[in-house]
Amino acid sequence: MDNIVLQALRNRRSIRRFKPEQISDEELQAVLEAGTWAPTAKGLQDPWIVAVQRPDLVERIDRLNGKIWGHEHPFYGAPTIVLVFGTDPDEWQNSLQDGSLVLGNMMLAAHAIGLGSCWINREREMFATPEGKELMAELGVDVKLAGIGALALGYPASFPPSVKPRKENYFKVVK
Ligand SMILES: Cc1cc2nc3c(=O)[nH]c(=O)nc-3n(C[C@H](O)[C@H](O)[C@H](O)COP(=O)(O)O)c2cc1C
Repeated sequence: MDNIVLQALRNRRSIRRFKPEQISDEELQAVLEAGTWAPTAKGLQDPWIVAVQRPDLVERIDRLNGKIWGHEHPFYGAPTIVLVFGTDPDEWQNSLQDGSLVLGNMMLAAHAIGLGSCWINREREMFATPEGKELMAELGVDVKLAGIGALALGYPASFPPSVKPRKENYFKVVK
C-alpha cells in the first residue's frame, strides 16, 4: 500500500547539517502541535515540550550536551532545539515511551513540511546535573521533571543520508 503518510515514514531521515537561517514560527508551531497529538499512556499527556530558539540558550544546551557526550556541537548547529521533558521515569513507568512518541511525531511532521531534524540523546543525564537544573528553571520547566530527548531542528543544508535497507525478518506475521 502507499499513501502520503507511508511515504513520509519511508523518506524521513536524520539530518545533521542545517542552514543558519531560522525556521518560521508557522513551521515551528506545526511541528510542536504534531508532538501534542502523540498518544500518551492513560491519555495523561505527561510530556512537556520546550522549543528553544534564543541563540545563547541554544549554545548553552549544545555545550552542556557536548560535555556529557565528549564531543563538540552535538546539535550540529541547528537554529532550533526542541526539548522534551517528562515525569521522572523512576516515578512514572511510561514517561520515556510517551516522550519518545512525541519526538517521533515531531520528526515526521518536520519532514512532512520540508524541515530537517535529528533526535539528540543524553537529555536525562544533562537535566540531572546542577547546570541542567539551572537551565530548566530559566526555561520555566519544573526542575523535578526528567529530560527525555531532544531534536535538532532547522532547514536541511545537506541531502538526506542514504537509507540503510531494513534488516531481514524485521517483522513477522503469525496467523
Ligand atoms: C533514541 C535515539 C537516540 C538518538 N541519538 C542521536 C544522537 O545523539 N545524535 C545523532 O546524531 N543521532 C541520534 N539519533 C539518530 C539515529 O542515529 C538515526 O535515527 C539512525 O541512524 C537512523 O537514521 P534515520 O533517522 O535517518 O533513519 C538517535 C535516534 C534515536 C531513536
